[in-house]
Amino acid sequence: MVIYLHGNLGAGKTTLVRGVLEALGYPGRVKSPTYTLVEPYHIAGLDLRHFDLYRMHDEHEWDSAGFRDEFDGHNIFFIEWPEKAQNQIPQADVEIVLDILHRGRNAEIHANTEIGKQCTANL
Ligand SMILES: Nc1ncnc2c1ncn2[C@@H]1O[C@H](COP(=O)(O)OP(=O)(O)OP(=O)(O)O)[C@@H](O)[C@H]1O
Ligand SMILES: [Mg+2]
Repeated sequence: MVIYLHGNLGAGKTTLVRGVLEALGYPGRVKSPTYTLVEPYHIAGLDLRHFDLYRMHDEHEWDSAGFRDEFDGHNIFFIEWPEKAQNQIPQADVEIVLDILHRGRNAEIHANTEIGKQCTANL
């Protein structure tokens, strides 16, 4: 399952992932993967990977960091700034577009695949 998170700096992408992890019962701190590029989580029987690709310098960094091996059909991915590695990373099952409003945020949720549609139908 691959979820792209679109939106400007500060739109709330990391906050959304934090909310998902908290809802799953994750008790620890959820840091932004700004410098590490990825933070792994294991909670509620799920393996999640939270990527922030903003600081990726070029697309080859994806392969050289070994990230391709993470896509084993088992992990769940939240990817901030997917456009920084658009030819390297798998297609999104779900895309979430966040916009900053005067108060709060607007979230548009698009399902691109069958599994994505099953997921959003349960929201
Ligand atoms: N739904 C929301 N309503 C109000 N404030 C929010 C909301 N979501 C996030 N914020 C606030 O906006 C700020 C930036 O949020 P966040 O770090 O999640 O953005 P981001 O999209 O991950 O940015 P970046 O691209 O820099 O990683 C934080 O101070 C956060 O508390
Ligand atoms: Mg962020």
